[in-house]
Amino acid sequence: MAAPRTSPARSSVSRSILTAFVASLSLLAATAPGSDAVPTDPALKKRADYVHIQDTPSGDALFSLGNTTYLANVQNPKAVLGGDCSAAAGGDLVPLAMVVIDDTTVTADAIQSVLASYAEGDDVYSDDFLAALLVKSGSADSGVSMDGSAVDFFDSIGLEYLFLDTAISCEGSGSFDTMYVDGLADSTLPPGPYAAIVSDESMALGMVYRLYEDTYNTFLYGAYDSNDGETTYMSLGAFYPKYWDPLIPVPSRIYYWDDDRPLAGQRVGIKDLYDIKGLITSGGSQAWAHIVDPAEDHAPSVQQIIDLGGVPVGKQKLAQFASGANPWDWYDEHYPFNPRGDGWLTCSASSSGGGCSIAAYDWLDYAIGSDTGSSMRRPAAVSGTYGQRPSQGMMSLEGVMPLGAATDTAGGKHSPSKLSIYPWQLLTNPESTVFSRDPYKWIKFSKNWYAPELHQSTEITGLPPLVVPDTDAFPKRILYPTDYLPLNNTRDAEPILQAFIDSMAAIFDMTVTEFNFTAFVGNASDPVASNFTTMREATGVINRRTQWEEVAKPLIEEWGARYDGRFPPIDPARRPGWVALLEDETGYSAADYADALVTKAQAVDWYETNLQFSTAESCSESVMLCDIGTGGLPSFRERELNESPDASYLAVTPEGAAVTCASICPIFGCADFTIPIGQVPYQSNVTFHEEMVPVTVNLIVKRGCDFVLYNMIERLADEGVLKTVMTGREAF
Ligand SMILES: *[C@@H]1O[C@H](CO)[C@@H](O)[C@H](O)[C@H]1NC(C)=O
Ligand SMILES: *[C@@H]1O[C@H](CO)[C@@H](O)[C@H](O)[C@H]1NC(C)=O
Ligand SMILES: *[C@@H]1O[C@H](CO)[C@@H](O)[C@H](O)[C@H]1NC(C)=O
Ligand SMILES: *[C@@H]1O[C@H](CO)[C@@H](O)[C@H](O)[C@H]1NC(C)=O
Ligand SMILES: *[C@@H]1O[C@H](CO)[C@@H](O)[C@H](O)[C@H]1NC(C)=O
Ligand SMILES: *[C@@H]1O[C@H](CO)[C@@H](O)[C@H](O)[C@H]1NC(C)=O
Repeated sequence: MAAPRTSPARSSVSRSILTAFVASLSLLAATAPGSDAVPTDPALKKRADYVHIQDTPSGDALFSLGNTTYLANVQNPKAVLGGDCSAAAGGDLVPLAMVVIDDTTVTADAIQSVLASYAEGDDVYSDDFLAALLVKSGSADSGVSMDGSAVDFFDSIGLEYLFLDTAISCEGSGSFDTMYVDGLADSTLPPGPYAAIVSDESMALGMVYRLYEDTYNTFLYGAYDSNDGETTYMSLGAFYPKYWDPLIPVPSRIYYWDDDRPLAGQRVGIKDLYDIKGLITSGGSQAWAHIVDPAEDHAPSVQQIIDLGGVPVGKQKLAQFASGANPWDWYDEHYPFNPRGDGWLTCSASSSGGGCSIAAYDWLDYAIGSDTGSSMRRPAAVSGTYGQRPSQGMMSLEGVMPLGAATDTAGGKHSPSKLSIYPWQLLTNPESTVFSRDPYKWIKFSKNWYAPELHQSTEITGLPPLVVPDTDAFPKRILYPTDYLPLNNTRDAEPILQAFIDSMAAIFDMTVTEFNFTAFVGNASDPVASNFTTMREATGVINRRTQWEEVAKPLIEEWGARYDGRFPPIDPARRPGWVALLEDETGYSAADYADALVTKAQAVDWYETNLQFSTAESCSESVMLCDIGTGGLPSFRERELNESPDASYLAVTPEGAAVTCASICPIFGCADFTIPIGQVPYQSNVTFHEEMVPVTVNLIVKRGCDFVLYNMIERLADEGVLKTVMTGREAF
């Protein structure tokens, strides 16, 4: 029995083009004839058939089981096991579940309980993988045997092939083929679902990824480790044509259950500014993608995630060249969607793909982005997720496209200038940052990721070395800046903030001080710190010089050389500024850059002496509150909708404030975290239905006090003040 399975569906499907495959899947699944090896009693056959969809250009396979689609990495299998496997050889890939049984007797109960834990704890495994089972003995004893109950169970589920560790002897036989494979005892092959390629003398086990639709269009494309032993990544060029969604491959979580690294098996979306070995880093620009080669190494920050056990699952959208472009100013990429509220809200600018993906998908654990002017904290605010700007210099920026971001602009009231169309926005070096829904998970990622060896050198930051104590030396005061607060939606959102302040004050025994930030800073005796123009110019030079030297100039030159002097096609958020610099680079020399670093260091020093400073008891004597979002008003991807009094543009500088509060830490180097604290209703002019918009607050502490702030946030979560946000329409 068990002749090589033939699947008429395979040949017909594989002729269809890759991009058109999933639309007809349910039809295929319904019409694909069963394999020859199913049990004779059709009532017993509940398992969905394996349907081959398409090989990828690299030779990996896309397949479906029922309505779920998968990728099998068969080019570089996870393991190859020897043995006489001829009974299963020569056909299609065989879906298979591997289990480890520690007892000396392998029973139906033991196997069923393992399989139940798989189904319960993993979204990739399903019982549809049980065409075949690979059983490894985890027992130290010899003489392990499989009893008759197991055989009966296998028959009852219509198992076709049983692959057994040579350490296990099997009593009795069923209507499946039993084959023995070598080498399992020494293999580190983790349990879980696989797709096997079986030949007469061996079977190769390919890791399995479930393909999820990126229904909110937050990714550029999915990607996965090619398993070449060097963590070279492959892009997955597959999407769901019905809704134009990229498909994102996520590996089985079971592979990582025995892996005790802090981020083992955690799925991470990566902003397309970070180098991932084997993939192009586009910066959101097709022109740039044309002129660069795939990255030869991971950025150290990405390598750190991989070393911690995290799994990059794809490249995510960003405002082109990490600009602050509004949704309606995106041309090269299609703007991602925000799952919150009416589905028509902004995702903010630069790290928009990451923020909205974390608000959208339970199958995604983290997304990493970067924050220069606001580009992480504001996407966290509008998606109602946790996201930070760490202290300046917390993470190496090697292998990260050197782009600073202007912040989202307030309603396009900008006037073009020589340097940028957003001349008043602050630009500094970006900080690498992470989004999460769960405060504990967010803290775990952050504390492990921001390792001291990855801090930037003082030569790069121009600032004193970072010292990052992990203590409970909490602040004593809550600073409430009256030029930024109360929240704009005073009726519904400000009471949520007040309740949060009351809780925090009670839990940490803190007092609340109201003060005017702009007046306080403007009153400084220090000539640099008191002059926002000076500080803004300095941060502008720091950012734009690197961007100009390392991205803009090479792109313009290369494009011109290839295309008869033409200027590259790029979005208007960057075009006028680059054109202006092409004509006149004055003010952006290496010497100007060095001067700017000195100016910036002076501002930081003033801040840490006069506004947020350390005491014997506190890392940062105060925590300052602010709102980088819209204060509980909706802000939309469609420009005109923001003109209404019940909506708001992003990045509005409040009247009387010198800068938006987003700009405080880019100037003064401090740590600024966006924290979701609630949600408020609005009447949507898109769905004509009441919807909810997230309310968030920003917590700001002195540079270096990040971990103390994480410890505060953990305590607030312990006390139930902060919560894990949900995915989808409503965060709470
Ligand atoms: C597959 O999808 C179809 C169409 O949506 C649905 O009718 C069917 O119940 C699904 N099958 C399974 C096994 O979920
Ligand atoms: C400004 O400085 C003066 C003199 O040091 C002080 O009296 C005053 O309170 C300060 N004002 C603010 C708003 O900090
Ligand atoms: C602030 O600095 C700018 C130059 O950076 C200078 O033109 C301006 O006069 C200064 N303002 C004050 C109040 O000193
Ligand atoms: C919806 O439109 C009405 C009428 O133009 C306007 O008064 C209201 O403020 C709008 N609501 C929102 C949330 O923008
Ligand atoms: C507050 O909301 C109003 C109404 O939409 C808007 O005009 C204003 O710019 C907002 N202010 C801030 C600081 O966001
Ligand atoms: C804060 O101080 C600035 C500068 O002195 C002033 O223009 C502004 O009106 C003040 N804002 C508030 C809310 O007091």
